[in-house]
Amino acid sequence: MSMREKLELLERRRAESELGGGAEKLKQQHAKGKLSARERLDVLLDEGSFVELDRFVTHRSHDFGLEAQRPYGDGVVTGYGRVDGRLVYVFSQDFTVFGGSLSEAHASKICKVLDLAMQNGAPVIGLNDSGGARIQEGVVSLGGYADIFLRNTLASGVVPQISAILGPCAGGAVYSPAITDFVYMVRGTSYMFVTGPNVVKTVTHEDISMEGLGGADTHGGTSGVSHFTAASELECLQGIRTLLRYIPSNNVDAAPRGPARDPRDRRDEALLDVLPDSANKPYDMHDVLRRVVDDGDFLEVQKDFAGNILCGFAHLGGHAVGIVANQPAVLAGVLDISASVKAARFIRFCDAFNIPLVTFEDVPGFLPGVAQEHGGIIKHGAKLLYAYCEATVPKLTVITRKAYGGAYDVMSSKHIRGDVNLAWPTAEIAVMGPKGAVEILFRREIADAKDPQAAMDARVAEYTDKFANPYVAAARGYVDDVIDPRETRPRLIDALDMLQGKRAKNPPKKHGCIPL
Ligand code: HXC
Repeated sequence: MSMREKLELLERRRAESELGGGAEKLKQQHAKGKLSARERLDVLLDEGSFVELDRFVTHRSHDFGLEAQRPYGDGVVTGYGRVDGRLVYVFSQDFTVFGGSLSEAHASKICKVLDLAMQNGAPVIGLNDSGGARIQEGVVSLGGYADIFLRNTLASGVVPQISAILGPCAGGAVYSPAITDFVYMVRGTSYMFVTGPNVVKTVTHEDISMEGLGGADTHGGTSGVSHFTAASELECLQGIRTLLRYIPSNNVDAAPRGPARDPRDRRDEALLDVLPDSANKPYDMHDVLRRVVDDGDFLEVQKDFAGNILCGFAHLGGHAVGIVANQPAVLAGVLDISASVKAARFIRFCDAFNIPLVTFEDVPGFLPGVAQEHGGIIKHGAKLLYAYCEATVPKLTVITRKAYGGAYDVMSSKHIRGDVNLAWPTAEIAVMGPKGAVEILFRREIADAKDPQAAMDARVAEYTDKFANPYVAAARGYVDDVIDPRETRPRLIDALDMLQGKRAKNPPKKHGCIPL
């Protein structure tokens, strides 16, 4: 055969490898409102940047009729490409080939890109659309999953790992995404569960739909398994591109800088009016964040889960930062189990990838109650405390209003290595709020008073004057300065510049024992 003929053969094979499970299956995929594995990569990656690996790999099975069908690629498209010019490794499962199920060969292709990502320090993005372990391959397929889980775990904290769930994700198939750093789901087409509705019905007699058991809103709002919910696949894939603007390629590179169009010294007058007159009234912490960060852009993570704490990425003077903020508009910004777990995980991601943490604090304390105590608020709250204590990235804190009790310690206080701690003049830093404190300290005096209400008011005023302010903490250096709220942005940017050379290390150890 001549070179020309050999090239023609190569072209024919290449074209065949791009057919996946064929035209009919592709039609079914589109009819479900889903893109094909390759169309997804076209949306995710910079135009023309995708380089495919292992397109001619086939499965090695001889059972249950599989020997008659050996499609090229074996149900997953793998390789590397660019997002805004930066290298990423990708795999995209093809549901049109054996339902995207995972065989030995399919797994080895995914392992190859995971190994390359680790060696070369670039993020891995997995587009999952799979019926789980390839049933015909039995234990070999289970072994393939385990090979992936091991690599996900070893890559954790070395390179960012992002999972998009773009179809059913059942059985062990959910555990690889669960180990990764960020899980995206699409409303109406993506599902995650360990066992599906039929098994649930048989075992527990509960009747529930796919959507209700493991749809995007269930995992975005109830379980907290996913981090981002999109209305469509296009929105989901664009969302991954946006996330990458805030995070570095690996644990030794710096995060990309933001465009920094927003003036560094911008003072927002409206910050004077965000807080309500009464300390017991709520306000939306988003209003503070948007007025402080570059261009008002705050990329919120787990937006629909544990709304009493806000986590997300932003730029400040071009520096990428991770923001953790109590949200007085939801449950008064109290710390509960879900909020603690949500923020702890976010903080550990930022710390692993050298993204400075900025904490906005307005917290009345931990949530009291039997459900919280029996649910383990002690160990879950300890996760948040542990994550803040352990973090060695630059840590900045702004106390806008309440910093009460244990929550004062937890929320990036000076004592646990906060680098720059600032307070607004409205800050109240104390063991508890004035009314609660007076009720404990002066119960008898108030009960015996001729006018108990007047006695109470007088003691509350006295306590507020003495303790419910930032100056007791400032006198000790527990806050570095009390600032005009309008100065928040320039002061934070200045602190980030100042801390750029920060060197901090934890004691040598194999790893700590975070209370899981
Ligand atoms: C082999 C599979 C498959 C699988 C689907 N297919 N799942 N082939 N192994 N796991 C094939 C189907 O036979 C079918 O082939 C094609 O893919 C499309 O599947 P459909 O069922 O027609 O599609 P749909 O109706 O959309 O349903 C999708 C589905 C369902 C919900 C994912 O296929 C399903 O329940 N699959 C099995 C899920 C599962 O139990 N997996 C194992 C989990 S255990 P044809 O030729 O007819 O088109 C596991 C262990 C991991 O993963 C362990 C790690 C710890």
